[in-house]
Amino acid sequence: MSTEPKLPVAPRARALLLQGGRVRYAPPFVLAPMEGVTHRTFRDLILSLGGVGAAMMLGGCRGDREDAPPRQFFPDMDDMPRWKVQGESEFFKDKRMLRQPVSGSVPFSRQSMSPEAYATAHPAWADSFAAQRDVLLTLGDARETGQTGPDAFVDTIPIPVDRELVELGKKKFDIYCAACHGFQGDGKGMVGRQWSYDLPNWHEAKYKDRKEKTGKDGYLFHTARHGVVDAASGTMKMPPYAHALSVRETWGVVAYIRALQKTREGVADDLSAAERAELDAKRATPSGGGAAPSGGTPAAPAGGKS
Ligand code: HEC
Repeated sequence: MSTEPKLPVAPRARALLLQGGRVRYAPPFVLAPMEGVTHRTFRDLILSLGGVGAAMMLGGCRGDREDAPPRQFFPDMDDMPRWKVQGESEFFKDKRMLRQPVSGSVPFSRQSMSPEAYATAHPAWADSFAAQRDVLLTLGDARETGQTGPDAFVDTIPIPVDRELVELGKKKFDIYCAACHGFQGDGKGMVGRQWSYDLPNWHEAKYKDRKEKTGKDGYLFHTARHGVVDAASGTMKMPPYAHALSVRETWGVVAYIRALQKTREGVADDLSAAERAELDAKRATPSGGGAAPSGGTPAAPAGGKS
């Protein structure tokens, strides 16, 4: 019976093994010899590793098509949740992937700045920064909501009104409101005329008297942004336009509605003699559109219908 081990080992190890019996075996790559590790342990280890390797190779069936997803040992690194911009979310009630900033929150890590320090070096940037900052600081207050409480609305537009704002308002009004409310705000727009009931006429007192809720600037603003919802049934009677109009644009629309109202309040005596003469002359010569006979607004070509 030969005691010679059948393992093919290096000559030095072989010599050691041939000294007989169980010897301590230190593989060359193990720096400190380990207590109790014999060539048998080592052999068993190699055999079992080989066994596992063979099993993996056989089980792997490489090259075959496989419908089951591959095994992943660190799945989190291969598959991570990913959302597309503007995508839909199952998680949030409103299904929006992109979240709105929490109402009233102001980004706090923005660079602090004194407009004076930058005004000379980067005037354009300083201006735009100051404008953005103004908007941020109004978040949640009456300038942004038109409201001072749950059912309390500001009487008058809380931002400076100038010609630019009114013109911006006209532009947006013509796009978003006129189809229903008419270019003159009398509720007789293309769509408004087809409505199942008469649309409100903003030239009525209840939309002008600031003592009434419907006459307050904040209420017009709020309606434009949030639409009209029937409190009893919850049905939407007018769609909201906050998605289309910025806060400033909405105040512009309100300013323009006020301007429209003014157009029906004027009387001929408001004009100077020269202006009246000019208008009379225009009325005499029927050039183009034909002047409106009633003392209304000669300017707007009243909502399409001739
Ligand atoms: C699709 C048609 C439509 C458009 C567009 C529309 N509205 Fe209206 N709006 C309505 C209807 C219908 C009502 C009447 C709702 C009701 O039954 O009280 C109304 C009512 C109003 C009222 C009166 C609310 C009240 O309580 O009396 C205001 C103010 C108003 N709209 C503002 C606007 C403004 C500003 C815009 C443009 C940004 C606009 N609407 C665009 C259909 C529209």
